[in-house]
Amino acid sequence: MTTASRSSDNKPELADALVLYGASGDLAFKKIFPALQALVRAGRFDLPVLGVALSGWNLDQLRERVRDSLREHSAADDSAAVKLLERLRYIDGDYRDAATFQRLQAELGAAQRPLHYLAIPPSLFATTVDHIAALTSTPAARVVVEKPFGRDSASAQALNRDLRRVFDEPAICRIDHYLGKEAVQNLLFFRFANAFLEPIWNRNYVDHVQITMAEQFGVEGRGRFYEEVGAVRDVVQNHLLQVVANLAAEPPSGPSGEALRDEKVKVFAAIRPLDPPSIVRGQYRGYRDEAGVATDSRVETYAAMRLHIDSWRWAGVPFFIRAGKRLAVTATEVRVQFHRPPQEVFGALLARHANYVRFRLGSGEVTIAFGALAKQAGAAMLGEAVELDVCRVPDDETGAYERLIGDALQGDQTLFSREDSVEQAWRIVDPVVGMVAPLYLYDAAGWGPTEADRLTAGVGGWHAPV
Ligand code: BG6
Repeated sequence: MTTASRSSDNKPELADALVLYGASGDLAFKKIFPALQALVRAGRFDLPVLGVALSGWNLDQLRERVRDSLREHSAADDSAAVKLLERLRYIDGDYRDAATFQRLQAELGAAQRPLHYLAIPPSLFATTVDHIAALTSTPAARVVVEKPFGRDSASAQALNRDLRRVFDEPAICRIDHYLGKEAVQNLLFFRFANAFLEPIWNRNYVDHVQITMAEQFGVEGRGRFYEEVGAVRDVVQNHLLQVVANLAAEPPSGPSGEALRDEKVKVFAAIRPLDPPSIVRGQYRGYRDEAGVATDSRVETYAAMRLHIDSWRWAGVPFFIRAGKRLAVTATEVRVQFHRPPQEVFGALLARHANYVRFRLGSGEVTIAFGALAKQAGAAMLGEAVELDVCRVPDDETGAYERLIGDALQGDQTLFSREDSVEQAWRIVDPVVGMVAPLYLYDAAGWGPTEADRLTAGVGGWHAPV
């Protein structure tokens, strides 16, 4: 069992090697190598990288793959690339074979605090972790796992048990890359760095909240993976519930990461489990023709739902979420809608629900803006909708993994999902994962099935991202 190595001032100690399982895979190619290059560039990474994979490769082939990855997925930086390539080592082998880990042990040399990054399918976690247990450096090691953390409560608990046989909770970093996004961090910062918001950030002023995660693209070659998950498991149980938690959490009792994680678990614990009438599932036309997808698939590529948070602050305020592939735009947006004025002083001319805060969470832009009405110039008392920008900056898409890997190397747990929050999030979606609700087909480039409109009919409908 690990003891999460700490320095004399009780801070977690920096890792001294990175072991990357799944080094020949997609995640390493698209996200991890570019993030490592960015960390090298920032002077924050100078460790050996031990790639492990079952591909029959040698070190030169891994280097070639890393070069391709950097060419395709990051800004050119020859000097950082050269440094990263020099640090690579390669171990070819099967994760079920003890001999692979004997070779790894030899390559680890004197390393005492490796970070083991499991960029591999969850079905291989248990066997890999059991072999890691035999490495001499494991008592002070840490492990990174990627979502999906299980496929329901029971499997998430089993997965946690597998990890906890070898690693204690502070040594486990569960990556949900949304938590590393600049815009998602800004949600928290904006809420808790400003005092003016607090008096209105509750059921007395907020009418409802909408979160839309729209993607113009489809499953993009990941049909087989998607058949196993569907939209609720892929992005709602993790990314979007994390956004809800950041919007709804009480102020943490202090600056520690644990204080914030405690508040987020309380939000999850207060959310009612979803029931089939609260969710509308959709599938885009053409999904069944994608490679790896069953011709009669009932898996949802779109889900819209209404959540209730039974807390003093949020009782009676519906939180609407919708997420879908092959929609009209690619944009993730939160809209916190305030109540209407109590009387129509200027008649019924005002647009529906004019006051809101809008958070654009990436896809090109990070925005926080307030919606208000101002008088149109002229004789008539007519209003026009305006937005007051708090910030509007270009999005840095590569930053999330850089931040999260940097934090995992340092042992800072703030941005990783804790065991209890993962299990609570499954409790919310457990009753609706699978085929319990009807499935409606929808055309690409629109806003999903019209059946989802009934969820928001009482609040004036869905707001498309701006
Ligand atoms: C991933 C999902 O976790 O998040 C994908 O598996 C989804 O289906 C992606 O497209 C969205 O992430 P981002 O950062 O592009 O919004």
